[in-house]
Amino acid sequence: MPIKACVFDAYGTLFDVAAAARILAEQPGQDQLAAVWPKLAADWRLKQLQYTWLRAITGDHVPFWDVTCDGLDWAMEASGLDDPELREMLLALYWELPAYREVPEMLATLKARGYQTAILSNGSPDMLDGAVDFAGVRTWLDDVLSVESVGIFKPARVVYDMVGDRFDTTPGEVLFVSSNGWDAASAAAYGFHTVWVNRAGEPMDRLPAKPAHVLDDLTGIPALAGDL
Ligand code: LAC
Repeated sequence: MPIKACVFDAYGTLFDVAAAARILAEQPGQDQLAAVWPKLAADWRLKQLQYTWLRAITGDHVPFWDVTCDGLDWAMEASGLDDPELREMLLALYWELPAYREVPEMLATLKARGYQTAILSNGSPDMLDGAVDFAGVRTWLDDVLSVESVGIFKPARVVYDMVGDRFDTTPGEVLFVSSNGWDAASAAAYGFHTVWVNRAGEPMDRLPAKPAHVLDDLTGIPALAGDL
């Protein structure tokens, strides 16, 4: 069954979530951050994601912005950073995360070949709008789907249902792309053709389903979609 829609996770997949800490660490006067930014970025991301999973289990949903702030607060304390101004600067940068360099051409190619394209993300609509516009990629996206429509984070199946509801597709007509191993595994279990973008060469997550495709970056997505 040919692919009709190519759907992308946002944070870590299209947009570089480590960039906020990395960019600020390069600024003059940020010596304290420069000494710890890789740990801060990793802790921030891990705590942000852990809080989404826990809130999905317990039903205590809040917008993704809230868990983003909570994760940063945990990460800053873990790195001994107690600086409200630094916190505000890091959070401001989260609204202007750069897209990975291959993203514009990859999305433009998919659109030129007639695929429906969308983001499916935990991000709240305002955060996603900020990132999409900052990266200048809106012209190649048919929609930006946020979990706020269903009030629960990934990997709840009702989130993946949003794709079929929007594009009138079966799971087998969808290519889903995520850099998050757990998201890719869950999407594969749902029945999407799934690509795990494994930029860091991490081990495959030990979960019930495995993504059928693993790529180093997003460059090969149009060719893969055409082959399915
Ligand atoms: C998202 C997170 C999981 O964009 O990266 O949904």
